[in-house]
This record gives sequence, structure tokens and C-alpha cells, in this order.
Amino acid sequence: MNLTELTYISKSHEQMGMLSLMTVLEGAIKWNQSHGITGVLFYENGYFCQLLEGDKQDILDVWDRIEGDARHIIVRKLDIKPIEKRRYPNWKLRFYGAEQIASQFKEMSSILDGMPEHDHELLQVMRTIVD
Ligand SMILES: Cc1cc2nc3c(=O)[nH]c(=O)nc-3n(C[C@H](O)[C@H](O)[C@H](O)COP(=O)(O)O)c2cc1C
Repeated sequence: MNLTELTYISKSHEQMGMLSLMTVLEGAIKWNQSHGITGVLFYENGYFCQLLEGDKQDILDVWDRIEGDARHIIVRKLDIKPIEKRRYPNWKLRFYGAEQIASQFKEMSSILDGMPEHDHELLQVMRTIVD
């Protein structure tokens, strides 16, 4: 497999409610699972940040669709590069709706507090670019 990682930041078309977020996630997870794609998706204050890893051709295919998705506008494609091994081998799509979700669902704050180091880094990059 030609293992590849892609990262980008985008701005949602409009402030997304839980329901629209779940709709995005549901479709994404299904396709990712059946194509061996793993990764992480953040949503915060109207911005997304996503990291996807998988076979290069699958990554390019999904990127084509994500880029053309009217629910968001790509702010910046951060990187696409070959990788040796996955950072999220066990995640079809790890999702963080960070603050919004934590404030709506108190019981989730402990999960969000347990964010791995690398996820924090990504979130920092997103915040820096968005500011
Ligand atoms: C922020 C965001 C992230 C997405 N992530 C993925 C993803 O990881 N995998 C995926 O298959 N679709 C993802 N999608 C959905 C695609 O953009 C697209 O709607 C979906 O693949 C269905 O495309 P189709 O209607 O052309 O078949 C994402 C959409 C958004 C807005």
C-alpha cells in the first residue's frame, strides 16, 4: 500500500448543529471504513481540521469529494505526504467537536480532556491559522 496522509483546514458553510455534524460523520465513517481510511476530524467555532491516512489513490478520491463538498470551504490544504505508519490505526474517524460538544454534553468533557498529544498539536495548528 502507498500509505499517504492528508491534512486540511476548512470553514463550514454555516454554523453546524449537532445533527448536521452527525450527518457528515455518518457518511464519512462508512466510506472510510470500507476503504481502510483512518484519521481525525475536529470541529470548532465553525472550522474543521481533518487528517486522513490511507492508500494514496483512496486519499485522492476522497479529497476530490471533500474539496467539492458545499458544506464547507477549504481554507488551506496543509499537507499531503507519504507516511511510514498511521497515527490513527484504530479510528475510522476520530471526532472532536471540542468545546461546543463538551459544553452541551457534560459527560463528554472527560473524554475530550483525554485528547492524545498529537491531536492537541493539530488543534493548535488549526487555531493558529484561523486566528
Ligand atoms: C468536514 C467534512 C469532512 C468529511 N470527511 C469525509 C471523510 O473522511 N470520508 C468521506 O468519505 N467523506 C467525507 N466527507 C463527505 C464528502 O465530502 C462527501 O459528501 C461524501 O464523500 C459523499 O460524496 P458523494 O455525495 O459525492 O457521493 C466530509 C465532508 C465534510 C464537510
